[in-house]
Amino acid sequence: MIKDLWYKNAIIYSVNVESFLDSNGDGVGDFEGLSRSLDYLQGMGITCLWLAPFQKSPRRDHGYDISDYYQVDPCFGTLGDFVDFTHEAHQRGIRVMMDLAINHTSDQHPWFQEARRDPSSKYRDYYVWSETKPEDAHKGVIFPGVQETTWTRDPVARQYYFHRFYPFQPDLNIDNPLVLAEIRKIMGFYLELGVSGFRMDAVPFVIEGKSPQARSPMNWQLLRDFRQFLQWRSRDAIILAEANVEPKHSVRYFGEDGDRLQMMFNFWVNQHVFLAMATGEVKPLVKALEQTRERPPNAQWAQFLRNHDELDLGRLSERQRQAVFDAMAPDPDMQLYERGIRRRLAPMLHGDQRRLRMAYSLMFALPGTPVLRYGDELGMGDRLDLPERDSGRTPMQWSNEKNAGFSRADKLVRPIVDEGPYGYEQVNVADQRRDPESLLNWTARMIRIRKEVPEIGWGNFDVLDVGHPGVLALRYRWLNNSVVVVHNLTDEAVEIGLRLPGERDRTLVNLLTRDHSQADRRGLHPLIMEPYGYHWYRAGGLGYLLDRTAV
Ligand code: GLC
Repeated sequence: MIKDLWYKNAIIYSVNVESFLDSNGDGVGDFEGLSRSLDYLQGMGITCLWLAPFQKSPRRDHGYDISDYYQVDPCFGTLGDFVDFTHEAHQRGIRVMMDLAINHTSDQHPWFQEARRDPSSKYRDYYVWSETKPEDAHKGVIFPGVQETTWTRDPVARQYYFHRFYPFQPDLNIDNPLVLAEIRKIMGFYLELGVSGFRMDAVPFVIEGKSPQARSPMNWQLLRDFRQFLQWRSRDAIILAEANVEPKHSVRYFGEDGDRLQMMFNFWVNQHVFLAMATGEVKPLVKALEQTRERPPNAQWAQFLRNHDELDLGRLSERQRQAVFDAMAPDPDMQLYERGIRRRLAPMLHGDQRRLRMAYSLMFALPGTPVLRYGDELGMGDRLDLPERDSGRTPMQWSNEKNAGFSRADKLVRPIVDEGPYGYEQVNVADQRRDPESLLNWTARMIRIRKEVPEIGWGNFDVLDVGHPGVLALRYRWLNNSVVVVHNLTDEAVEIGLRLPGERDRTLVNLLTRDHSQADRRGLHPLIMEPYGYHWYRAGGLGYLLDRTAV
């Protein structure tokens, strides 16, 4: 086993340059601002940043509509600022990953402009065209309610072009070797600038057959090609796939021999975590964990709660989805695209600190590598008066000063949350930094513990039977060590009996409080779980570093 696969136990933080810190007072966050925030991120224990797209873009989809892959959008600074930032991050032991949005470009990209004007241009075939509107054009839209079709007529080309997402995002024709060469060039460019890998946007759509005729098969080989190229150019860079797929398909993204993409977001578990929190029953979550258990040894799940998009519940049954809506987003305006929730985590959990901490503790305890969303470490809220997914993309709340300390400008890229219990006067870094009991300091503490429990990233888990439908107990074992994490998803205190098969005599030492437990005569550890309680234990005691075998 190669023990230095860094992504197995990273702490990833998702951030948009746009909304983090505005150093030059133009109302938009920038790389200089992000650089100045690095001590904050390092202090929290973050080891890897994932940057949302920052390249030149009309920004009609949060930068996921790129018009020049080789330039930083001027509102964020220059390529020089980007390299400076990456360097400063590395100085603090923080890796930088970036979004790789190559399923489509912006319709303003010179490739598309050239393609539509000139049928004989080499760029024409960079995109996917059809003389007539395919019959299934209304199917498979990604943003129902906002997007009507996947084929739109371009008046200049006098043909229809394919766009899986918004009409201003024409899909690239991946079957064209020239397009593949462009993608490799983009990856190669940023690897030279020091990134540790890419969060690859919309992977299932990148590799699907896109011709207007009958569907061609998925091009799995491409994933292997990307991987090989990446590792040839940069030995420890990785790809983290955005692929919201059924569990039975996930191994195909990792590759049976682990020869495709190293990481995938676990959307399946994510949706079942919210279902479990909404219903107070862990059974469906246990099943989801079992269903995503299999993965090649070098592959890893990314576990998350909220991200920059809506919370997509599209893989739950209608009844299950409704249960989550009822509990966390009852108002239709909180819902989006007929499948999701556009709120931040804290308001979804009614600002209940016990629940928030339990939710995060659970995320840190799930098999894989945790990914936090900026601002969630403070319990930031949302602005439902902003359109679609912008509700959860408001500026970072640094202090109770003007514009939450985000910017000196009068007009901001997006308004601050300035009212109610999540307003910046109540929720901000400066206050929480000074409060030992704050969510921010709690998060930093949990990150520290998570880092000291590499068993979660590397080990195998088993679900321990606790005899209560609302309590989840997971045990991880790795290198002769064993860790048990227990979560009570209900609002009631419960008493459980925990049995550790094969480790009957081992003491359980609590990592968060000063207590420990010895099994009784029947081999049971009697535990009292507070409402929304979370307990982290080491089996065997604190000499674990001495007990750990070398291989
Ligand atoms: C991904 C991104 C989303 C974006 C879409 C189109 O799903 O997460 O934010 O709108 O791709 O690029």
